[in-house]
Amino acid sequence: MSVTQETLARAPRPGAEVLAEPMRSRWSPAVFATDAPVGDDEIASMLTAAAWAPSTGNTQPWAYIVTRVGTAAYDAVVGTLSNGNSGWVPTAPVLIVAAALTGEWEGRKGMGDYALYDLGQSVAHLTLQAQAIGLHSHQFAGFDHDAAAAALGVPEAYRVMAGIAVGRLGGDEHVARAAEGDVARHTKDRTRLGASEVGYDGAWGTPFTG
Ligand SMILES: Cc1cc2nc3c(=O)[nH]c(=O)nc-3n(C[C@H](O)[C@H](O)[C@H](O)COP(=O)(O)O)c2cc1C
Repeated sequence: MSVTQETLARAPRPGAEVLAEPMRSRWSPAVFATDAPVGDDEIASMLTAAAWAPSTGNTQPWAYIVTRVGTAAYDAVVGTLSNGNSGWVPTAPVLIVAAALTGEWEGRKGMGDYALYDLGQSVAHLTLQAQAIGLHSHQFAGFDHDAAAAALGVPEAYRVMAGIAVGRLGGDEHVARAAEGDVARHTKDRTRLGASEVGYDGAWGTPFTG
């Protein structure tokens, strides 16, 4: 079966129809539209969503380094990618590197492990804002974090945790040009544990069935 956007009903998946937008529609494509740019206003809107996430004691222990295709910074991030990510990540016009404040920087500190917790929540806000304004995102951990931190000048007080590929969903023509492995990643079945598998009712081990 050829892979077309019609055959690609990636979201919502069965069980996810009850979600509110933009959670309902969010998914992580592995084929972006290489020729469709992302505007600075859109990037600013994503960063604003990230900045408005709640955090422990309002410490806001996160930082984002935005890189755009065609720049040395973008190429530096691409140069650190794992083999599995080196095909699909560069199809996105914007790569954002997310870092958590695990040390002290300019008088500010995170709250221990909660810096990592807070960064994850902030990234969730960023990715949902991206979805809400018509973009897609796909996070990735498969890159050399230290090399990326050095190339982008990230201070030691910040720990690079993930990259976020952002762009517009690739069309059939982009899918047709993608490598087989990336198309497989793009079209893989999206599954989740159910609410009764991740939720307990009153005590550990009693599935939430409500
Ligand atoms: C912190 C983090 C790291 C990830 N690293 C990778 C990665 O290196 N390569 C990749 O293809 N996807 C990566 N993903 C994407 C997940 O595989 C994806 O979110 C998951 O399969 C669920 O799919 P969905 O986002 O479409 O719901 C990562 C996601 C997160 C949150």
